Amino acid sequence: MRTDQTSKSSIYVIFCWCFAACGGLMFGYDIGISGGVTAMNDFLVKFFPRVYERKMHAKENNYCKFDDQLLQLFTSSLYLAAVVASFGASKCCSKFGRRLTILLASIFFLIGAALSASAQSLWMLIFGRIFLGFGVGFGNESVPLFLSEVAPVKRRGSVNIMFQLFITIGILIANLVNYGTSFLHPHGWRVSLGVAALPAVLLFVGSFVIPETPTSLVQRGHESKGREALKKIRGVEEVNEEFEEIKEACEKAERAKGSFWEMAKKRSNWPPLVIGVMLQVFQQFTGINSIMFYAPVLFQTVGMKSGASLYSSVITGAFNVLATLLAIFAVDKAGRRFLLLAACVIMFISQVTIGGLLLGYLKEANTLTVGMGIVVVVLVCMFVIAFAWSWGPMGWLIPSETFPLEMRTEGYACAVSTNMVCTFIIAQAFLSMLCRMRAFIFFFFAAWILLMALFVFFLLPETKNVPIDAMVDRVWKLHPVWAKFMDDDDEAARKTAAAVEQV
Ligand code: BGC
Repeated sequence: MRTDQTSKSSIYVIFCWCFAACGGLMFGYDIGISGGVTAMNDFLVKFFPRVYERKMHAKENNYCKFDDQLLQLFTSSLYLAAVVASFGASKCCSKFGRRLTILLASIFFLIGAALSASAQSLWMLIFGRIFLGFGVGFGNESVPLFLSEVAPVKRRGSVNIMFQLFITIGILIANLVNYGTSFLHPHGWRVSLGVAALPAVLLFVGSFVIPETPTSLVQRGHESKGREALKKIRGVEEVNEEFEEIKEACEKAERAKGSFWEMAKKRSNWPPLVIGVMLQVFQQFTGINSIMFYAPVLFQTVGMKSGASLYSSVITGAFNVLATLLAIFAVDKAGRRFLLLAACVIMFISQVTIGGLLLGYLKEANTLTVGMGIVVVVLVCMFVIAFAWSWGPMGWLIPSETFPLEMRTEGYACAVSTNMVCTFIIAQAFLSMLCRMRAFIFFFFAAWILLMALFVFFLLPETKNVPIDAMVDRVWKLHPVWAKFMDDDDEAARKTAAAVEQV
């Protein structure tokens, strides 16, 4: 057992927490900023004049006024770049360490923010988004890993959710910045896109001050540096016990290590892989990012004015932050399954009711009454609150605690890239789907929510309070479905025993 007395918080650890804030903030800011910017007329006139024209004739077709592949590419290109980057990032993380990967993330971000804020053409804008995407890919792979490796063992769960908390704070800040800059004509959108450089500068400076993680140093053969780093992080001289555990885990991982495909072929690795990947697919197909990216656009679709729609996004953003705080306290008490299932019920009701209301009251060429608009905002808030205490944080937490160490970085990279692929799909397709499916798009998401509730009910085991290294015995081997996949470890043990007997 790793002692927790050795893990007294030092100033250094607090700095690392703030540092985590910057990684999450950067990602969140990017998620939240694009929706508001694409709702600004100055931005549309400069880069998407066709969309602007259509918006001005909104009365002719409510659901289709923002349907434009290039406009969606503005949002989605970032996530496509992040998918590509996350594979490079996982290699960089294990070969050169977490610190360098984080430094690279901040540099990509700075270039991306500069290019997009000063964009003169659509392509310059898209290039900016691609650099930001590289930043997200590198940052999302390395920052949570860095956090888990420097966090005291008992706080690993809440530290992980802190990352999600700062994502939501980043989204809220972006919503507020958009609200403020919407009054600055004609360059408010440049300010919105440029402010992304602030957390990137902090991250850049921070990456020179933070240590490399002890695990990464030991894994790359720098044992004494690893010990020194651990002392610095824990703020004490006596770290023997914890250091020996890190060494042991690294040696074990080294022995079990093969290529990703070799490890993926091992049947006992399938349960965490299936769960890690499916949680990300489901997280995105709740429809959350149709709201995070396009809330202002969505609220304009139901007839709100530009200002009111940005204002309403600030409200949903604030609920997102508050409900994530709830998750930090509830996750180790109520458990993962309960939070996920309870959220499915609320999200299902919200999506079906929004769909029903729009089907009944929002035709092609009218607007909803103010009262009905408020009901839609309330339903969207209900949906966001339920997501924020469940699928948001759990989508990242569960994959981080269920992979065995020998495939943790690769398994996590799989989860991150699945998330980015699905985020890309939603970002690129949502406005077109809204145009073609109209109110039925909400029933589409509701159907996914039903499916994911069944998945959780039958296939997701409870991992609350289970030590990471005891997952096989205490979780997988006891699960009615996944236990069947655990036989290759037993098989290996049988073979070893037989060989020993023969000798
Ligand atoms: C998701 C993002 C989403 C955010 C909302 C994150 O966990 O990965 O796609 O926008 O939560 O708070």
